[in-house]
Amino acid sequence: MLKGHWMAVDVERTMDNYRDAGNLRARVSVYRYREPRFDPETLALELLPDDLGYVLDVGAGYGRYARRLRAAHPEAVVVAVDKSPGMLAEVPEPAMVADAQAIPYPDGSVDAVLAMHMLYHVPDVAKAVAEFRRVLRPGGTLLVSTNAHTDMTELYDLWDRAVATVPDAVGSTGAATVAHFDSANAPGYLETAFDSVEAFERRGVVAVPEAGPLIDYLRSARSFFACGDDAFAAIVSEVERRLAEHFAAHETFDFQKTAVFYRCR
Ligand SMILES: C[S@@+](CC[C@H](N)C(=O)[O-])C[C@H]1O[C@@H](n2cnc3c(N)ncnc32)[C@H](O)[C@@H]1O
Repeated sequence: MLKGHWMAVDVERTMDNYRDAGNLRARVSVYRYREPRFDPETLALELLPDDLGYVLDVGAGYGRYARRLRAAHPEAVVVAVDKSPGMLAEVPEPAMVADAQAIPYPDGSVDAVLAMHMLYHVPDVAKAVAEFRRVLRPGGTLLVSTNAHTDMTELYDLWDRAVATVPDAVGSTGAATVAHFDSANAPGYLETAFDSVEAFERRGVVAVPEAGPLIDYLRSARSFFACGDDAFAAIVSEVERRLAEHFAAHETFDFQKTAVFYRCR
């Protein structure tokens, strides 16, 4: 096995990363430094119809969208669906452990499906999108989100340069995971299954004022690095060293972060 190689789609490592909510929370928390501020749950509410009815939030994670939808639409039934039981542990019922590629719901049985920042983890994206279409009633809405294919290159470059200093490690990037379903290829998958696909893009820059949250972010991705603990510790040390150099000359470490939402009908 290559020491520092970043795995593109590896179900075992993905599920290890999402065995509980800690890693995702560490990543999400860095976006408190995003400018302009962006509240993805609010945009989701704006893009969904008012009469929500029965909703599946697939790949719900720790349930931030499900919670907001339930609060805004107490009359709706919002089911949080995730492959990882540990992610759902803190999500109030109704919640269900299931795979996006085989959703245990009948044809045409739900009014809306959400798949927020999750399709890049699914091996067979086309199959999952076909499942979303199958369970939606005619006229139902699918809301999908992902990253822009140009996102976070500054951060991934930093990781790559650190990986390159660790003997035998291979320089690869976190971009490989998101590239499986990002703004470059998402429309193709979605337009195959839906008549109408509208894109809503929110560009931003994350300007982080200290190294700590960036190191937390790197550590949160540990399971995606196919290397031993010593090699990973060496990668972290090298990133820390480079960040110390960076902050000696700059007030912030900046990286691009664009959210793209797709409303499909
Ligand atoms: C980046 S998190 C996004 C969580 C949430 N949608 C959000 O935006 O906060 C990806 C989630 O997808 C889940 N996931 C990964 N593969 C899945 C699959 N095949 N079926 C269902 N959920 C999956 C993970 O367990 C994780 O909770």
